[in-house]
Amino acid sequence: MLKDKKLAVLGAGKLGETLIRGLLEAGVTSASNIIVTAGHQHRLDLMRERFGVSATLSNADAARQADIIILSVKPQTVPLVVSQIADSLTPDQLLISVAASVSSTFIEKHLKQATPVIRAMPNTPCLLNKGMTGIAAGTNAGKIHIDIAKFIFDAVGRTVIVDEKHMDAITGLSASGPAFMYIIIESLAEAGVKVGLPRDIATELAAQMVVGSGSMVLETGEHPAKLKDMVTTPAGCTIDGILELEEGGLRVTLIKAVVKATQRAKELLET
Ligand SMILES: NC(=O)c1ccc[n+]([C@@H]2O[C@H](COP(=O)([O-])OP(=O)(O)OC[C@H]3O[C@@H](n4cnc5c(N)ncnc54)[C@H](OP(=O)(O)O)[C@@H]3O)[C@@H](O)[C@H]2O)c1
Repeated sequence: MLKDKKLAVLGAGKLGETLIRGLLEAGVTSASNIIVTAGHQHRLDLMRERFGVSATLSNADAARQADIIILSVKPQTVPLVVSQIADSLTPDQLLISVAASVSSTFIEKHLKQATPVIRAMPNTPCLLNKGMTGIAAGTNAGKIHIDIAKFIFDAVGRTVIVDEKHMDAITGLSASGPAFMYIIIESLAEAGVKVGLPRDIATELAAQMVVGSGSMVLETGEHPAKLKDMVTTPAGCTIDGILELEEGGLRVTLIKAVVKATQRAKELLET
């Protein structure tokens, strides 16, 4: 689907680079089909060196050359970049924004023509093709545009198609979520050290256990509570651990973390 398409990544920072690496490693496009932009020349040089992609400081030039434009600058920089590319875009192109907080309506309002806009909210595990991306269609985007976006993000993980009203929640849950999980893994590893395990072994145990637990939920399709019950032997050790988690408020803390991150996602464009 992407083989003969030119892809522009406007703002090849952490996420832009993750997507480029993921797409190249998945073999769905080649470096000769990718052009990137950034705020500074040294970042472009690095991208060129790392991936063999084309690079320019001009967002308008990159957008003009591309069939699909991925906008991955910070939310606060979106208005500037959209104003720079507005004259270059046509309805035959597709603009995919991964910026948190910025609605497709905001972008559409600043374009000169009815270029289809898709909003996507990926996360950093896309780097290892284990990403999770929410995708929502803007006003002028049809099934073909959703299919193209889905193809791009399926190459680097799983995707869900949602109404745009859910994008801030996806930002708070699966885009911010890896940071929450790293803290949980780090804490579990710390616990392993406390009960006598070498740190590297404790970290491996914790991380693989989290990967395995996630896979159990996805692959069995069972409710997480049922899977939890399968581990929890009556009067065994797991129920004692669960009691500590409930007393420490783990559930409420995680719920509040996602709610706060979701609320913040609504504000990023302004601040
Ligand atoms: N990080 C995540 O996990 C994640 C997940 C989902 C969505 N997002 C979204 O992805 C976007 C990028 O996030 P990030 O974490 O990748 O940030 P980042 O690392 O700061 O990347 C932003 C990039 O934009 C470039 N840039 C700045 N001004 C520009 C301009 N005028 N024209 C073109 N490029 C410009 C910067 O270039 P220089 O490096 O040269 O300054 C930088 O490479 C954000 O909107 C964020 O909401 C991020």
